[in-house]
Parts: sequence; structure tokens; C-alpha cells
Amino acid sequence: MTSEKLSQPPANARRLQFSKVYLVLIIFSIFLMTAVCIYGVEDKFVVYQRVYLPKPLTKIFGYGDKFNESAVQEIQRRVSAYISPWQAVQIIHPDVPREKIIYSSNQARLTALHQSETISGHNQCALIGNAGILLESGCGDVIDKFEFVIRMNLAPSGGEFKRDVGSKVNLVTLNAEQIGRLISCTNSSYPPEWKCKSEDEDCLQKRERKYPPLRAPTNCDSLLRRMKRFNGTTLWYFKSIGRIFDATKRMLGILKPKYNIDINFAYSTTSLMSPSHKAWNVGFPSSGMAILTAATQFCQQITMFGFYPFSQDSRNRTLRHHYYEEGTMNYTSNQHHMPNEYRIFLELNRTGAINLVNECR
Ligand SMILES: *[C@@H]1O[C@H](CO)[C@@H](O)[C@H](O)[C@H]1NC(C)=O
Ligand SMILES: *[C@@H]1O[C@H](CO)[C@@H](O)[C@H](O)[C@H]1NC(C)=O
Ligand SMILES: *[C@@H]1O[C@H](CO)[C@@H](O)[C@H](O)[C@H]1NC(C)=O
Ligand SMILES: *[C@@H]1O[C@H](CO)[C@@H](O)[C@H](O)[C@H]1NC(C)=O
Ligand SMILES: *[C@@H]1O[C@H](CO)[C@@H](O)[C@H](O)[C@H]1NC(C)=O
Ligand SMILES: *[C@@H]1O[C@H](CO)[C@@H](O)[C@H](O)[C@H]1NC(C)=O
Repeated sequence: MTSEKLSQPPANARRLQFSKVYLVLIIFSIFLMTAVCIYGVEDKFVVYQRVYLPKPLTKIFGYGDKFNESAVQEIQRRVSAYISPWQAVQIIHPDVPREKIIYSSNQARLTALHQSETISGHNQCALIGNAGILLESGCGDVIDKFEFVIRMNLAPSGGEFKRDVGSKVNLVTLNAEQIGRLISCTNSSYPPEWKCKSEDEDCLQKRERKYPPLRAPTNCDSLLRRMKRFNGTTLWYFKSIGRIFDATKRMLGILKPKYNIDINFAYSTTSLMSPSHKAWNVGFPSSGMAILTAATQFCQQITMFGFYPFSQDSRNRTLRHHYYEEGTMNYTSNQHHMPNEYRIFLELNRTGAINLVNECR
């Protein structure tokens, strides 16, 4: 009896133990209620950011503090005077046989054709330029968290670049030169309807107008390796497609059967160059400017990485022209006036119309 009593803790101590348990329970339920409140009241994305993202990222995703809703609407309106979402990006349904694809820039006809669809809207887009500033930026993880990632000129991502540029890609632009090279790199020549006898001047001239000349098959290994990374994504040609439409069909007809690379193809029904020129009053818009212009029509909040048209950064580091290849660039003698465009980006960043990021550390 006595020994049993002794083995029991005194009543005081027992009460203390109970209150400890209660305290833990109370703290836990307060935590739980707070979590439920935040989750219920606010946007999922914000909760995600608050709970999981480490500090530096919170700054970049800062919802209310970075973007300015009225400035965002202002650039949307400004561009919409010259281009609409359906003109910006038409994505061809993957199951349309490539030889049957018909290209049109007429909205009613596009609808009737049922061959393509206007790109859908997205809340948060990352637009990745190719500037050398991205090297050692440490932006990879941030970029990969975006809902929708747009890259340019088939730029490589992932692998050795994962830390700085990430690996996610939803939409990637390519140019006519790359389409020509892809065709010759895969040992394909002109499609039968564009084969001409070398003495048939008529045929040659007609072909030159309607089909871009095939390029020398240079750097094919690297190009094909890049293409494999775009398996399952959408390739987008944003200039006047009329002249190269047959070539894109040719390319699509090679990639899937020969290399098992599945891509969607998208085009702009009107070249983005003219709307970009008009919307921003820049002489000869760069691709980056053109893509930003289009993106205002399908992205709510646009964060731009890798746009920095200077040969040195603020720490006097010499920068490559493109993060993925050796070589520098004299931006002052470039036809695109990129430093002027950069001033526009800075101004848009200042008012909160876009978010312009140079580094993530
Ligand atoms: C938000 O955007 C509007 C319209 O561009 C601008 O007038 C205003 O100054 C901006 N606010 C801030 C805090 O920059
Ligand atoms: C193209 O043909 C050349 C020469 O016949 C060959 O060496 C090369 O491997 C071929 N390339 C492809 C991608 O089939
Ligand atoms: C592309 O993706 C499809 C579907 O995920 C897969 O079956 C195919 O093997 C991939 N192709 C390559 C070249 O990896
Ligand atoms: C970069 O170079 C300029 C001019 O040569 C010099 O004035 C500046 O102090 C340098 N900045 C750094 C961070 O080294
Ligand atoms: C870049 O081009 C401008 C204009 O053509 C020229 O004045 C300048 O010296 C060039 N800079 C370099 C580093 O070559
Ligand atoms: C963009 O604006 C933010 C402040 O809103 C600033 O921290 C950032 O440095 C700006 N980006 C550039 C490239 O100047």
C-alpha cells in the first residue's frame, strides 16, 4: 500500500503534467486554426509561399507588394489595341495529321477549322531571356516553381544549367533558321512538292518564295539533344508564318516518327513584330520584347529572368551574350536597341506592371 502510494507522483506534480499536455494541445490547435484560416481566406499560392518557400523566394513571389494591379491592367490594355490572345498564340491540336494542317489568320475560319486553339490564360508566368546574367544567378528553383514557363530560341535548360535557369518549360520559341537546320540535321531534304530540278529556274524561284532555304547541318548533335528536352512541350513560331509553314509541317513530320519527340506546334496569326513596335514605340523589337508583348495577353503576372543587355554586370563581371554559349555581344551596335528596351523593362518593373529579376541570391 505504502509502496504503491510512493510510486505515484504527488497530486501537484500530476496536475502539472496535465497542464503541460493541455498547453501543447492548445498551441497545436491554435496553429491548426491559423493554418485553416489562411488557407480558407487567401489564394492557395500565397499560402504555399508562406508555408514552404524560404525567405528569398517570398520576396520574388511577393503577391501584393510586387505587382501593381492597375499597372498590370494598363499594359494589357496598351497591347490589346494591337493584338488579341487568339492572334498571339494558336496551338495546333496534336492529333491533326501534319500534312492536313491549314494555316489561317482569319478568326472565323480558324474557329471553323477546329485545328487549333487559342492559348489559355495563366496567372503567373516566368519569361526566360537568354542573357549571360543568368549564369550564377541561382534562379533555377524559383523559375521551376512558376505555373507557366516560357523560354526563347530553343534555349537549353536543366542539366548543367538547372541551378541557374531551372528545367521547366511549357512554351518555347524557335526561329526560321532553327527550323531549316532541324530539317537538314535530320537528313531530310525538301518535301516532294518542293523538289526542283537544278535547271528548273521557275520551280527554284517559286520555292525560294515559299520555302526557306535549308541550312547547313551544323551543331546537329546539340540541336537534337535540345529538342529531346522539349518532348511534350509547345514550340512557338511568332513571326510571319506564311513563308515557312510548309517547312514547319516538314519538321513536325520528322520529329515524331524519326526521333519519338512529341511536340505541339503554335504560331501567331500575325507577326508579333508590328504590334510590339506600336505598343512600345521601339524601332526594331527584339524577340524578348515581342514575347513580352504577346504574354501580356495570356499571362496575368509576368516575371522576367535573363534580360540584361550589357557586357558587364554591376560587379564588373564580363557577361556572355547567351548563358549557354561562349561569346560576348556589343549591344550598342546591335540592330535591336536592347539597352533602350531594357529601360522600358525597368520602368515597367518600377510601376509593378512586371517583375524583372536579375539574380535570386
Ligand atoms: C501602380 O500603377 C499605376 C498605373 O500605372 C501608377 O499610377 C501607380 O503609381 C503605381 N503604384 C505604385 C505604388 O507604383
Ligand atoms: C545523316 O547522314 C550522314 C551521312 O550519311 C550520317 O553520318 C549521319 O549520321 C546522318 N544523321 C542522322 C541524324 O541521321
Ligand atoms: C517523349 O514523351 C513520350 C510520352 O511521355 C515518351 O513516350 C517518349 O519516349 C518521349 N520521347 C523521348 C525521345 O524521350
Ligand atoms: C567597375 O569598374 C568601374 C570602372 O572601371 C569602377 O569605377 C568600379 O569601381 C568597378 N566596380 C566594382 C564593383 O569593381
Ligand atoms: C560597340 O559598338 C559601338 C558602335 O558601333 C562602338 O562605338 C563601340 O566601340 C563598340 N564597343 C566595343 C567594345 O567593341
Ligand atoms: C525590380 O523592382 C524591384 C522592386 O519592386 C527591385 O527590387 C528590383 O531590383 C527591380 N529589378 C531590377 C532589375 O532593377
